[in-house]
Amino acid sequence: MQVRKSAPARALLAALLAVPQLANAFYLPGVAPTSYKPGEIVPLYVNAIRPTGGTESMLSSVISYDYYHKLLQLCQPPSGAKPVGESLGSILFGDRIMTSPFELHMKQNETCKTLCQTRYMSGATFFTNQRIKEAVSLNWLIDGLPAGQRLIDEMTDTEYYQPGFLLGQELADGTLIFNNHYDIIIDYHEVGGDPDELRVVGVRVQPESRKYTGPIGQDTCRNDLDPVILDEETKEGTEVTFTYSVYWYESPTVWATRWDKYLHVFDPKIHWFSLINSSFIVVFLVLTVMSILVRALKKDIARYNRLDQINLDDLSGTSVVEDGIQEDSGWKLVHGDVFRTPSHPLLLSVFLGNGAQLFVMTGCTIVFALLGFLSPSNRGSLGTIMVFLYTILGFVGGYTSSRVYKAFQGEQWKLNIILTPLLVPGIVFGVFFLLDLFLWAKESSGAVPFTTMLVIVLIWFIISVPLSFAGSWVGFRAPIIESPVRTNQIPRQIPPTTTYLRPIPSMLLVGLLPFGAIFVELFFIMSSIWFNKIYYMFGFLFLCYGLMIITCAAVTVLMVYFLLCAENYNWQWRAFLAAGTSAVYIFLNALIYWITKLSLSGFAGSVLYIGYSLLISFLFFILTGSIGFFSSWWFVRKIYASIKID
Ligand SMILES: *[C@@H]1O[C@H](CO)[C@@H](O)[C@H](O)[C@H]1NC(C)=O
Repeated sequence: MQVRKSAPARALLAALLAVPQLANAFYLPGVAPTSYKPGEIVPLYVNAIRPTGGTESMLSSVISYDYYHKLLQLCQPPSGAKPVGESLGSILFGDRIMTSPFELHMKQNETCKTLCQTRYMSGATFFTNQRIKEAVSLNWLIDGLPAGQRLIDEMTDTEYYQPGFLLGQELADGTLIFNNHYDIIIDYHEVGGDPDELRVVGVRVQPESRKYTGPIGQDTCRNDLDPVILDEETKEGTEVTFTYSVYWYESPTVWATRWDKYLHVFDPKIHWFSLINSSFIVVFLVLTVMSILVRALKKDIARYNRLDQINLDDLSGTSVVEDGIQEDSGWKLVHGDVFRTPSHPLLLSVFLGNGAQLFVMTGCTIVFALLGFLSPSNRGSLGTIMVFLYTILGFVGGYTSSRVYKAFQGEQWKLNIILTPLLVPGIVFGVFFLLDLFLWAKESSGAVPFTTMLVIVLIWFIISVPLSFAGSWVGFRAPIIESPVRTNQIPRQIPPTTTYLRPIPSMLLVGLLPFGAIFVELFFIMSSIWFNKIYYMFGFLFLCYGLMIITCAAVTVLMVYFLLCAENYNWQWRAFLAAGTSAVYIFLNALIYWITKLSLSGFAGSVLYIGYSLLISFLFFILTGSIGFFSSWWFVRKIYASIKID
């Protein structure tokens, strides 16, 4: 069958395909290239050691360690390792960058330089072997570029770099060999043919295990030596000499595209296919729902307004029996109750304020990312911008919360002002802090340092909270959002509803669709979080976010319509909870991921995984719940404003 695309569809497709190129055009603002002269020192920094999937791509741990963890005994600079300055986002996302003893001179090959010599005693041996079993990878940064392993994508037969390389290998027979030699292969590029302006454009490390028996020289520097095995049985420990070689190769790659090999998209065709597929389904669904809804509403409104007319005629004597029956059903009947204050208005308004804040933050972050401002070369820029935006947007949170609370005719306005910037961030920070204690007990580098925690608390209380107060103040001074119809004194009885409109079934139904819109992308985000992969598909993410918002709003509105037709006017919490239920699916998805992709051995690892998943799901709950509520609110105001009520 031949599929003919219409012109707008083709234009849209072209625009979407152009997004990645657009991002390339805006490459790396804020990061200036560094040029080196031949022989000049190129710094090599080391970062935290992270578990990777290894060959079976089953992750067995989520706990990362400092590069200079005392039991790993990796070589330190003679004067001691110093931390390298990092951004807040970089620290929050787990980077722990330190100086190293490697000496790389631009364009100078070296073979078998000795780094240091250490003896692994039984404790260190056990610890290191455990890490080899978890397939942890060492992460180096050379001129800001992560040292990678070269891999081949079998599907497209292209080569790409995976950041990090293994600490050791587990052989098929269970032997654990330890890598003590590193072949560092660096690509450099001459800028404009000037031999004095050289830039680093690619870094690979090939780790090897070599059991040296004598002094290191040209003749012993071979790769056919026996591997180093850290024996846990011997009393005197295992002596290990660390060495490295450096090879410089001229490369045609220019500096601006040096990240491309790291940003490898696995089979973009499948990605596009599933995305376009799901977006078609979503758009189709939403359009169908909307057209049915609009038609039904038009009919309802026309009928109600006609009834009014006839009722007026009634007074003059003619009686119409049929209309009396008709008026006994439908959403018009609850007009005196739809704008009744919901239960717990304080809590709902606080959630909604925070939801608005998250909504704007997520949107802005994705747009920034789409424009290429958050490229991975800007280490930690994603985390930094998120913290920054969340802080600044405290104003939006306070404003929204107070306006909603005022519309609910809430009276504890002081409590509203105080809880808005404290409740949700407090829960998030509390969980985060507890998880951090776990990491800290495990001596993991993932534990956020105390000073960083302090900085976060200070930012929260000195900038975000006052901004939220200011927002609340402006919000409370703004005129009240009037309901289009008056609320009756006495609440109506709510008749019993059909099964699918009961709270739990309706929540499960409504929550499923927004989750469906982001399901594909979620998988890639999860693997970038847990498998230490670089996420760079912000174009997809942007689309998915848009689709999710549309779906979330559409299904919630539909549910509210059915609810009102069934004369149930308690739509406020129902809309919030139903839309928020997509977070439950996100959490279930995380659990499935846990079962299928991870095989976490330790208790701490499982707690961390579940804890972070819960945290993310909670934020998602607030976000989607708010989208659902605000769209329903808009809808309810709209329909009740369009009918005449005597
Ligand atoms: C370094 O060694 C490699 C392999 O032996 C060679 O191809 C390359 O040209 C050398 N680079 C320099 C700058 O000498």
